[in-house]
Amino acid sequence: MMTGKLTGKVAVVTGAGGGLGAESARVMASHGASVVIADINKAAAESVAASIVEQGQKAFAIETDVSSEDSVKQMVASVVEHFGRIDVLHNNAAILSAEQRQGDLDVINMDVDAWDRAMAVNLRGAMLCSKHCIPEMIKLQRGSVINATSGLGTMGDLTLSAYAASKAALIMLAKSIAAQYGKQGVRANALLIGLAPAENAHGSMPARLLDIIRENHLTPELGTPRQIADAVAFLASDESSFVTGSTLSVDGGFCSHTPSLAATRELFAELGSNKM
Ligand SMILES: NC(=O)c1ccc[n+]([C@@H]2O[C@H](COP(=O)([O-])OP(=O)(O)OC[C@H]3O[C@@H](n4cnc5c(N)ncnc54)[C@H](O)[C@@H]3O)[C@@H](O)[C@H]2O)c1
Repeated sequence: MMTGKLTGKVAVVTGAGGGLGAESARVMASHGASVVIADINKAAAESVAASIVEQGQKAFAIETDVSSEDSVKQMVASVVEHFGRIDVLHNNAAILSAEQRQGDLDVINMDVDAWDRAMAVNLRGAMLCSKHCIPEMIKLQRGSVINATSGLGTMGDLTLSAYAASKAALIMLAKSIAAQYGKQGVRANALLIGLAPAENAHGSMPARLLDIIRENHLTPELGTPRQIADAVAFLASDESSFVTGSTLSVDGGFCSHTPSLAATRELFAELGSNKM
């Protein structure tokens, strides 16, 4: 029998039909978890689950719209029927389509429907999944909730105001859950993710914008889905049993430095010195 740090645990990953969620599910499955691929895109969820099962690991796909309470309730009931328990909830689903990003702009130019969609999927979705998964964790007197957030949830920027506000709220939601259910063994943390291009969301980003963002990461390169998934697996596992109510930055240092760093690096290179 394979023994891994997640053996015996059941992990629900929302939005796992692609991108970072799919990679997190794959990595958690490789550590022995039974994973639930919950995504609004049924075909994508089924394909990810099938690829995990092909590796001899356990996965179950379920079409879920996280913004709908009925859909979330059905998802949780199916998971309990299928795997019997829920140990981990990774609130990863977010609406990041090109259409969404065309409407989620600065506040004056905000498309109000885009604002509502961001809040419904990114924030209400995480609350609904938490609302219905946490009672299953309390039955076990253990559990881990992981909310995917972003540097945009902690710092002002020129666009994506709805996305940013939803991501800021997810940091607080993790703290509320940690405070409310910690004594019943449930931990909750936010994972602050740097830019780790995944297949769906970043194809339409201008190359120059990617360069600007790369310059503001302290690592040589932007992140990879695997680097994010490794942190998800850590927060899901008992290795992080004393970590709760926190925001773990896995962002290549993007949120750790002065706003002038990238421009100053360029200036110092030009001057050939960092003497001030
Ligand atoms: N990739 C990055 O660089 C990055 C950076 C910071 C934060 N994040 C966060 O990580 C998470 C994953 O990002 P990604 O780049 O993999 O995104 P993605 O767009 O590739 O994946 C999002 C998934 O969510 C699903 N989804 C959308 N609406 C849904 C709904 N109503 N119900 C259920 N599923 C739904 C989509 O079908 C898709 O599979 C997001 O929360 C995002 O905010 C990503």
